Amino acid sequence: MEKKIWVTYKNGVYDITDYVPKHPGGSKILLGAGGSIEPFWKMYAAHENPAMYALLEKFRIGNIVETSKPVDMKDPFRNDPVRHPALRPNSVKPFNAEPPGPLLVDNFITPNELFFVRNHLPVPKIDIKNYKLKLGTEGGRKEMSYSLKELKSKFPKHEVAVTIQCAGNRRIEMSEKKNVRGLSWQSTAISTAVWSGVRLSDLLKHAGIDIDKGDYSHIQFEGCDKDPEGSAYGASIPIALAQGRKNDIIIAYEMNGEEIPEDHGYPLRVIIPGVVGARQVKWLGRILVSKNESDSHWQQKDYKGFNPSVDWDTVDFSKSAAVQDLPVVSTICEPEPGTVLDEDSDEVVVKGYAFSGGGRGIIRVDVSADGGKTWRTAELLDGSDQNPYRAWAWTLWEAVVPLPENHRGKVELISKAVDSSYNVQPDSVEGIWNLRGLLNNAWHRVPVSVAK
Ligand code: MTE
Repeated sequence: MEKKIWVTYKNGVYDITDYVPKHPGGSKILLGAGGSIEPFWKMYAAHENPAMYALLEKFRIGNIVETSKPVDMKDPFRNDPVRHPALRPNSVKPFNAEPPGPLLVDNFITPNELFFVRNHLPVPKIDIKNYKLKLGTEGGRKEMSYSLKELKSKFPKHEVAVTIQCAGNRRIEMSEKKNVRGLSWQSTAISTAVWSGVRLSDLLKHAGIDIDKGDYSHIQFEGCDKDPEGSAYGASIPIALAQGRKNDIIIAYEMNGEEIPEDHGYPLRVIIPGVVGARQVKWLGRILVSKNESDSHWQQKDYKGFNPSVDWDTVDFSKSAAVQDLPVVSTICEPEPGTVLDEDSDEVVVKGYAFSGGGRGIIRVDVSADGGKTWRTAELLDGSDQNPYRAWAWTLWEAVVPLPENHRGKVELISKAVDSSYNVQPDSVEGIWNLRGLLNNAWHRVPVSVAK
């Protein structure tokens, strides 16, 4: 049977099968296949014009009739927001999803609706009229509290472009070697936004808390999202880390110039540049300056690394340090795995991102099309002009790589990055494999083929 490709726009249903090969944006049109193209046209706004509407009208095959769905009041996820259809879910409840690679590297600053989502629990419904951020010290007598309005009006607004990456990004490649526990993230559980808000250091000063006196060792952050037993998501960072980054750690209330969307922490989240996503607590409810790390599950029993021989019978989470700064990584986003290149191609355009934690900038990305025998240096694009010792955002890159002469139809593309400390990605997963499948920064290998 011949396969048909259809999309919807408003209440119209359109059969675009014959138009797909003629689409100037190539196969990206297929991202909207089987659903509404409105969210994609909003993103690629050049589509929103009378000529395009007229073209689309030619393909109309029918109309949608709306029926209402009953809401399950017992479903703890019933308040979760509507998400962009381009996000590829790994789990729906809780919602965890990543954007397609080619869309991700289209923009240095990821559009809010494409930003990957990593939720452990239902999105909390925040009553903004009664919402206050609490701030205090462990054992301290007075806890301060701030409404969103106070934070916006009393403190200077600070802006910082920060890449957030989940520790589980590229877990799927680790699980292909040996079973690991966790969601099967591909390689786009990472995104970049311009975050604006109040400097944590300004807030601490206002509350009379001096983290340089040596009385405390950790800053704990608690979210408003709770598990069925009532425990909130929480994490902490060492004060030594906060001291070095005090101008750039912010309590953000805006993401790319808008209110933070519900999935990303409305109304407030902490942004800790260079650090793993797990510590950048969303829906922030409380900050506690303490002698101790957060005792939350996610600080104590998750997001820690182990050597490849440690298994679930021998693991002792108390003996391993919590992940904070991220290692150097690079990933090929385009072409995607399995792409079939034109039969007469003699080179391939490869695009991706590279990022390193702790503010270390990217100084080089190498790309190979022959399994690592020969390499081309990629051109570093947006992000390459950051201070290499305070680079909080990723660097996008592109390389044109000749295809090997005897490729026999199969080609393995590889990328590896070098950061400003000359850290380089390891060549394989074996030596860094760990039972939780975290921090996979091995060379990124993408199999593609050439049409015969
Ligand atoms: N904060 C709260 N309160 N609850 C969460 O589930 N997930 C963490 C972190 N902050 C989480 C959270 C993890 S593991 C990551 S990777 C990032 O948020 C993801 O941020 P994003 O969903 O905005 O991409």
